[in-house]
Amino acid sequence: MTTVRDVQAMAGDEQITMLTAYDAATANIVDEAGIDVVLVGDSMGNAVLGYDDTLPVTVDEVASRVGAVARGTDEALVVADMPFLSFGADLAESVENCGRMLKEEGANAVKLESGPHTVELTERLSDLGIPTMAHLGLTPQSVNQTGYTQQATDREEATEILELAQAHEEAGAFALVLEHVPANLAAQVTEAIDIPTIGIGAGSECDGQVLVFTDVVGLAKSSPPFAAQFGDARTEIHDAVSDYADAVRAGEFPAEEHANTESELDDLY
Ligand code: KIV
Repeated sequence: MTTVRDVQAMAGDEQITMLTAYDAATANIVDEAGIDVVLVGDSMGNAVLGYDDTLPVTVDEVASRVGAVARGTDEALVVADMPFLSFGADLAESVENCGRMLKEEGANAVKLESGPHTVELTERLSDLGIPTMAHLGLTPQSVNQTGYTQQATDREEATEILELAQAHEEAGAFALVLEHVPANLAAQVTEAIDIPTIGIGAGSECDGQVLVFTDVVGLAKSSPPFAAQFGDARTEIHDAVSDYADAVRAGEFPAEEHANTESELDDLY
């Protein structure tokens, strides 16, 4: 099983691979394919739960998916992404919600969309043995303040990200996601801190990369400009489902090998 220390040891040596998963079946595939970190992202809101954004996702929804992913994963580090308002307002409640993901669901770590309000919480979680991944730049839970555009394009915001990255490292975060920020900022943050940076829309100079599963396999209806599609699962699944429907309608399924008859049941009425 991969630990946070293993992930940290990879930084600077080999690229860390991280991908989201939201259920046991896909987590199992992602794990078998050799991904280092499986993120049970609150991106489940748009990716699989049918919401317009991540804001409605609940702690119970994430917990249920974290449990499924942890059961489907043998090797990768499982990180639970804490949903909107499950952390940050009250320290004790935040610790309880984060702790639940490890204690009851089998996650190895949590991720928090970060800002000045998560420094103290990161320190507390770290003290309590809950490894925390920070997340700066575009934080989709703040969509109502920032939209989905690239963040930190001016010196003031970029400096704030650099300082927050350092503050979270000092507070005990074991890694940092940098989302949709200029590549030269991500490169400087990676240089400035010792914990691994994992980029998404942040260029190639981070210590690793993360994407959303449905974008990568081609299941998403639309994807952000920085995502890449490596497969066409939508077409594959569509074809399999319509072949199944055609076979049922044509009386070709089930065939003899899919059924069993017991001769003594022949004359029931
Ligand atoms: O929720 C998510 O999937 C994420 C990644 C995009 C980093 O936060």
